[in-house]
Amino acid sequence: MKLTLKIWRQANASAEGAVHTYELDGVSQDMSFLEMLDLLNEQLLTTGEEPVAFDSDCREGICGTCSLMINGQAHGPEVTTTCQLHMRSFKDGDTITIEPWRADSFPVVKDLIVDRSAFDRIIQSGGFISANTGSAPEANSVPAPRDKAQRAFNVATCIGCGACVAACPNGSASLFLGAKITHLGELPQGQPERYGRVTSMVAQHDHEGFGGCTNIGECAAACPKEIPLDVISQLNKDLRTAMFKGF
Ligand code: SF4
Ligand code: FES
Repeated sequence: MKLTLKIWRQANASAEGAVHTYELDGVSQDMSFLEMLDLLNEQLLTTGEEPVAFDSDCREGICGTCSLMINGQAHGPEVTTTCQLHMRSFKDGDTITIEPWRADSFPVVKDLIVDRSAFDRIIQSGGFISANTGSAPEANSVPAPRDKAQRAFNVATCIGCGACVAACPNGSASLFLGAKITHLGELPQGQPERYGRVTSMVAQHDHEGFGGCTNIGECAAACPKEIPLDVISQLNKDLRTAMFKGF
């Protein structure tokens, strides 16, 4: 396939960015989207141009680093991560526009790379449980109802990619936050810190400049791990209870 790529280039966080256009030939439908970008970078290196900076790590849909807006959609036309998106989703002659996540809380570092450390700070503020050190407790010593364990497992699949934020017109991280709150709040081990956790994680979310949720639902539609919208209801419910309990 031959493609026209319109890619956001920005030298650093304070530099002004612009869209640059590249023609790329020899793209196979079997390539992943990131392999297509690798091919472009090889071409740029042979012509002495600086390669396009983009993030990736696992390339298996696990780490969440491969954040790209592709033709205005977070991770592109399929509900998956960019590394798991294949070029068979495009056709010969297509023009593809590639941008970094657009959210104030995810500032651009360079080209297509954004700083998502705001998510790390939200986790640090309460996305954990405290447990005594020592040997691992016997697995069945804390019974968990099967449906709750399953739900906790399902929402624990959130990889912190930030697509929910990028897709949300408010730049809200409520789906991410709801996934983390629900994951820990469903399990017995998460109960002791449940209400302190939600209070401090929501405070950190707001401090980082993420917007509020207005129930638009773009986040859940863009989420590559299909985190359901109702985790935001759980988040709000826990937050209300925390306020009544004086946390
Ligand atoms: S909720 Fe979904 S879109 Fe948001 S960070 Fe987690 S995996 Fe990514
Ligand atoms: S590179 Fe790890 S999820 Fe895409």
